[in-house]
This record gives sequence, structure tokens and C-alpha cells, in this order.
Amino acid sequence: MNGEKINSIFVIMFATAGLINSNYTLAVDMPAEGQAKCGTCHAIDKNIFGPSFMAISEKYKGDKDAANKIATSITMGGSFGWLFGSMPAKGLGANDSEIQFLSKFIADLAK
Ligand code: HEC
Repeated sequence: MNGEKINSIFVIMFATAGLINSNYTLAVDMPAEGQAKCGTCHAIDKNIFGPSFMAISEKYKGDKDAANKIATSITMGGSFGWLFGSMPAKGLGANDSEIQFLSKFIADLAK
């Protein structure tokens, strides 16, 4: 038996397992709707062209009407005081039900 070869197979297996796991280190992933229509500019936990969804959630934390206010922002687009520039209305073409879903998703992040 070639012990060294078996060892290197184990190393590869563990390395692969690590890679797979690293996709799940975030507590939450961007929902599919958000990936396609928001993900160019937003991520959950870091700023890209727009603020992170977590930062937005913090802004509205404790506001009972957070999901509605966030939905209005997404629908209208524009500037909301983040100084990142301007967001296109409805992102990259999100429909109303996607906007409702994503607004609630964002509102719930920082709870
Ligand atoms: C082309 C880039 C771009 C896309 C696509 C985009 N956004 Fe934005 N978004 C921005 C920018 C830039 C800002 C910050 C504007 C500012 O500086 O005030 C922003 C801000 C926001 C805010 C903050 C609103 C507030 O009241 O503070 C929310 C919520 C948001 N985006 C959600 C979304 C969602 C959901 C999508 C997908 C449907 C999306 N965005 C798609 C660029 C984008």
C-alpha cells in the first residue's frame, strides 16, 4: 500500500469539503431573486455599488414599517442618503412580488 498516496487523497477530500463549506459560512445567502436583479450592486454583508443589505436592515431596525419603507425605496429607486449614487427603480427589473419578498428579507436580516 502506498501510504503517501492515500494521505494525499485525504488531503484533497478535506480541501474539497472546506471549499464546499465555505459557501455556507454566511448565515444567510442572497435569495435567487436578489442574485439576478440586485446582486450586481448589492451583497448581504459587503458594499458593492450600493450598501450591503445588512447595513440597510440596520438602518430600519426597530421600525415596525421597515418592510414597507424598504419596498417603497426599491420601487422608486433614486438616492436615500447613502452617498453611493443612485439606484435604478426596481433594480434590474424586479416585479412587485419580488420586491415584497426582498423587502421583507432585508428587513428581517438585522433582527
Ligand atoms: C445598478 C445598481 C443597483 C441595483 C441593480 C440595485 N441597487 Fe439597490 N441601491 C443602489 C445604490 C447605489 C443604492 C444607494 C443609493 C444612495 O446612495 O442613497 C441602493 C440602495 C438600496 C436600498 C436602500 C434604501 C433605503 O431606504 O435606504 C435598498 C433597500 C436597495 N437598494 C435594495 C435593492 C434591491 C432589493 C435590488 C434588486 C431588486 C436593488 N437594490 C438593485 C444600487 C443598486
